[in-house]
Amino acid sequence: MASLRLGDTAPNFSAMTTEGLIMFHHWLGDNWGVLFSHPADFTPVCTTELGMVSKLKHEFDKRGVKVIGLSVDPLDSHNKWINDINETQGTKVNFPMIADDDKYVSMLYDMIHPNADDKLTVRSVFIIGPDKKIKLMLTYPASTGRDFFEILRAIDSLQLTSNFSVATPVNWRDGDDCIIVNSISDEDAVKKFPKGFIKIKDYLRVTPQPNK
Ligand code: BEZ
Repeated sequence: MASLRLGDTAPNFSAMTTEGLIMFHHWLGDNWGVLFSHPADFTPVCTTELGMVSKLKHEFDKRGVKVIGLSVDPLDSHNKWINDINETQGTKVNFPMIADDDKYVSMLYDMIHPNADDKLTVRSVFIIGPDKKIKLMLTYPASTGRDFFEILRAIDSLQLTSNFSVATPVNWRDGDDCIIVNSISDEDAVKKFPKGFIKIKDYLRVTPQPNK
């Protein structure tokens, strides 16, 4: 199967999770979603990542985003490991983890990169829109834990840019100025952006964040 690309429909699947059997698209409903893989249960970096996702769950909730993790370990392993995550990370795991021991979802989403590791998933992230299309993908190796604040930042950008004719510049944070997309004429920009805009170049027009 060709690997997934931005704009593709996130493949549907049914899977056993720590919160029961799910049908992925049904579980997502009309929400945004984050599907992320980690290499293995009972490993140090993954333990910190899953603890952090639990601590940030309210931030995902606030943005209408459902989060789900995955590794190729079985359900009983996930359930035992959750106790360690809760104990060591000072949190309570509060989102489902897919037990992908038959590697069905891992293969479907191309999460196993054999030249990195032929048995375990890499650290993949798929951000999925309410239309079930893949909006963003990230791939990190096992040795590098992800920054879930960056994932929240990217979601803020994706949600903003899906509603307004703007893009977000380098190192943008929610509340910062935005870029007006080049398909909008100056004339239309005046109407669309009542807070005004600064034209630095024809192709570089900056406006206050429209929904703030
Ligand atoms: C970790 O989470 O620490 C880890 C997992 C798999 C391979 C290496 C590190």
